[in-house]
Amino acid sequence: MALRTGSRTMVLDGANARLRADRRQRQARDFLARSSTAAALPLPTVTGKAARTGLLKGATVKLANNGPLIRKLTWPLLRFKPILSVGKLVFVTRHEDVCELLARDEDFTVAEGNAATMDRVNGPFILGMDRSPQYLRERSILQRCIHEGDADRIRAFVAATAAELVERRQGSGRLDVVQDLARPAAVRLLASYFGVPGPDEPTMMRWMRTIFHETFLNVGGDPQVRRAGEASAAEFHAYADHLIGSRRSQIELGEPTPDDFLTRLVRLQRDPETRLSDEGVRRNLGGVVVGAVETTSKATAHAIDELLRRGDALRRAQRAASADDVDEVGRYAFEALRFNPINPVLSRHVARATVLAAGTRREHCIPPGRTVYAGVLPAMFDPSVFDRPGEFRVDRPATAYLHFGHGLHTCFGRYVNLVQVPELAAAVLRLKNLRRAPGAEGTIVYDGPFPDRLLVDFDTVEEGRA
Ligand code: HEM
Repeated sequence: MALRTGSRTMVLDGANARLRADRRQRQARDFLARSSTAAALPLPTVTGKAARTGLLKGATVKLANNGPLIRKLTWPLLRFKPILSVGKLVFVTRHEDVCELLARDEDFTVAEGNAATMDRVNGPFILGMDRSPQYLRERSILQRCIHEGDADRIRAFVAATAAELVERRQGSGRLDVVQDLARPAAVRLLASYFGVPGPDEPTMMRWMRTIFHETFLNVGGDPQVRRAGEASAAEFHAYADHLIGSRRSQIELGEPTPDDFLTRLVRLQRDPETRLSDEGVRRNLGGVVVGAVETTSKATAHAIDELLRRGDALRRAQRAASADDVDEVGRYAFEALRFNPINPVLSRHVARATVLAAGTRREHCIPPGRTVYAGVLPAMFDPSVFDRPGEFRVDRPATAYLHFGHGLHTCFGRYVNLVQVPELAAAVLRLKNLRRAPGAEGTIVYDGPFPDRLLVDFDTVEEGRA
């Protein structure tokens, strides 16, 4: 049997490979039985592929917002069994191995997991496609819609929007980080920079949340989530088709148009090299905007939540915010997010028999058809890359963080997030005497997988003067 490992190809005797794989599976099971923490992992207890993966995926979603628990569950893996096969699943926790598997996009693919839902809800989009001429062409067209100076423009817009949203709450002494700030700010950026305002903000928030939920996070196949997502997608498609058509008419008639992402995509239709059909514009615009709201909101809520757990880091971050050093605030926000990232794991399908971590003691043969979980969270606690990983430190190399993934599918919106999340966090951190709302009100409330409320209190201007 020929096994590919990156550019190298090695030949293994089939029977031996099977024996080794069986031995590893036995070892993995023994390891789990021995380790009390790992035994608490929500392992499948029923038979049948669908039931097994469904259970495990469902449990993963429940766990997904609990960074501390994920850390507890994964540290024994990171330390003793960095690549663990259990049945058809493989868990990878070392930073180097996570990066390797995300970089090897032809061995570890996304279409198997993402394409069917993506195609049904949005129409084909890059996060559901593996490396192919269509993937490369469409990602490069999207890339051409990012112009020089966009980061500054986004920064100015988000800073002004955040200041205005926070100002509205000044008299009350209370702010909901999610509903009063992060979600509306992200939706307003869709209007201003992406050119997709939606009929109104509440509708846009509902569309973005329900479509995202069904497309990426409906792991148990909840029919209600499916219905809501599909209904929103149908409404959004009708809206977007109209929006794209009228923008093109404006351009053709020589009428003034805003310089936004939509105008840029439509203008690129004139060049055969970058031409997308109207349906292509809608698929790509839809995929981008749906990925832009709940992600930003969750990142902001989790970053603030983690800072509120750490008095000293919080005070230093507040000082940076008051001094308008938003780059420094960003370092605090992304370090805080390491303790509860928005994507603690990313999953991949094993397209062909392969070897991970070849030539190391962790070398692992993986047969085709397995699902591999790239442990983004444990990888960001790997002491070989994150010195003293349990410490909150803002001097870590920015390139080591894996918040935005790695390799071919690295987040397209990185240039937006690196500006938007710190600006939103800074607006919260500038509040006088910032603290959690008392009791249960001060903890994050989730709507399914999405943060839906995080209440913080602060001194009003009057209280500050008194
Ligand atoms: C802090 C907020 C965000 C985080 C943490 C985040 C994280 C990620 C991650 C981890 C991936 C890779 C998924 C994988 O490899 O399976 C990804 C992909 C992607 N993200 Fe984001 N994202 C954020 C916000 C955004 C925004 C604002 C946009 C749009 C402007 C966006 C658009 C995308 C797209 C289009 C992809 C797919 C890229 C591809 O397949 O080539 N994301 N994001």
